[in-house]
Amino acid sequence: MAKQEDIFKNVVSHAKEYGYIFPSSEIYDGLSAVYDYAQNGVELKKNIREYWWKSMVQMHENIVGIDASIFMHPTTWKASGHVDAFNDPLIDNKDSKKRYRADVLIEDYCEKLWQKAQKEIEKARGRFGESFDEEQFIATNGRVVEYLSKKKEILERMAHGLETGDLADVKLLIEELGIADPETGSKNWTDVRQFNLMFGTKLGASADTAMDLYLRPETAQGIFVNFLNVQKTGRMKIPFGIAQTGKAFRNEIVARQFIFRMREFEQMEMQFFVKPGEEMKYYEYWKETRLKWHLSLGLGKENYRFHDHEKLAHYANAASDIEFNFPFGFKELEGIHSRTDFDLKAHEQFSGKKLQFFDNETNSSYVPYVVETSVGLDRMFLSVFSKALQEETLEDGSTRTVLKLPAVLAPTKAAVLPLVKKDGLPDVAREIIEDLKWDFNVAYDEKDAVGRRYRRQDALGTPFCITVDHQTLEDKTVTIRHRDTMQQDRVAISELRNIINDEVSMRNWLMKM
Ligand code: GAP
Repeated sequence: MAKQEDIFKNVVSHAKEYGYIFPSSEIYDGLSAVYDYAQNGVELKKNIREYWWKSMVQMHENIVGIDASIFMHPTTWKASGHVDAFNDPLIDNKDSKKRYRADVLIEDYCEKLWQKAQKEIEKARGRFGESFDEEQFIATNGRVVEYLSKKKEILERMAHGLETGDLADVKLLIEELGIADPETGSKNWTDVRQFNLMFGTKLGASADTAMDLYLRPETAQGIFVNFLNVQKTGRMKIPFGIAQTGKAFRNEIVARQFIFRMREFEQMEMQFFVKPGEEMKYYEYWKETRLKWHLSLGLGKENYRFHDHEKLAHYANAASDIEFNFPFGFKELEGIHSRTDFDLKAHEQFSGKKLQFFDNETNSSYVPYVVETSVGLDRMFLSVFSKALQEETLEDGSTRTVLKLPAVLAPTKAAVLPLVKKDGLPDVAREIIEDLKWDFNVAYDEKDAVGRRYRRQDALGTPFCITVDHQTLEDKTVTIRHRDTMQQDRVAISELRNIINDEVSMRNWLMKM
């Protein structure tokens, strides 16, 4: 089995070679943790965004979308708490001069404990077979109990240190656990310090009149400041949601792991406004609904898990991540947060404007509570792309690289291939493209032997290859080859649109949810 690092390296190089993701400004040797989406990447990203938008906005009568600006009045960030509290704890290694997030070092240590427990569970499953009772085993096996309780204890202590500002104890914890620099093994650490993640910029022409601004570190605040505008103009009744997708910026301390953690990234967020006291009901509802959305893409149930937060952000009374099994292990993909009335109340206080909902039934006003779902579009991209990329050994012993993207998200839905470049076959292929292009992204490919073209389209993730041959001239049929099974069927040209549509339409995928 390939090692995790090799799989990840493969993902990065495949993304570049097949026109999905390029390093930014590569001719100048790139810019750390900044990437450009290439011709195929932009389509995949657009399809993920659309799949999210349709499931959140189009499928919910009580959710509407907005597109707020990246620049916002600077008081926004004072009110939201980002100026004072949007910090990550950083720690430097004195020998290697490498910088790390102290909480990530500790969480990675805990992940290893979790993996050890998982190993014991899998061993026992093998031993006991069908009669294995996982819950009972987790509750009673000495080693598993020890690993999991140690993990819990460590995370609680870290959360306490970070919440109370006791950073000396966070450092002590790192030292007590014997955590070493992952790259060099050195345990020679500096103190832990807080570092604000917002990027500052200026608005205005002259230095003395310019206003200090921030690039938004989350899209959510654009929703909160528009809460009343949307509620009134849309005549929205509680509970209702406002969704938005867009860029966010964070000056991350450590931005490695390709597009997993970037300094400029895109979020898909939805704030759901509810009656105070009902937030836990909706928190559970959105946890379940969002997981179903992820599962609908068919990347495997075993690749997702919830991680309920011990350490809560300054605005939350409950929070959970949907974690995904990335090539470097389980990491956060999406956050579901019960944000209480923190944001709306803070904006009321700082702006002096009421941000309340008038309830006709009780004849009274209140500040709604908020349940948020927030998923990174780039992380979604990485989750889909990394799981889809597979190396397969075929029956004849040869191998193929195939990008098994969910067909609904694939950048190009079908490639049309004339078997040879003569005898009028390219003309028929072009006619097919002319017909299909109104509904789908389709590509034309006539270079190389047809087998090589199939492999090329497999690696690009194209779900269908349509081959035009001499029989096509006689009976208007073509072969259609399915990427995942490699099965080829002879079908009438007139059937192509329906066959492709059945597999790629968002309607069909969303209905599986
Ligand atoms: N509005 C809430 C919020 O921003 P978050 O957990 O900080 O919460 C939400 O971010 C999601 O945004 C994360 O689950 C992740 O998918 C994505 N995200 C956060 N920081 C990121 C980064 N530096 N690069 C890429 N995606 C990021």
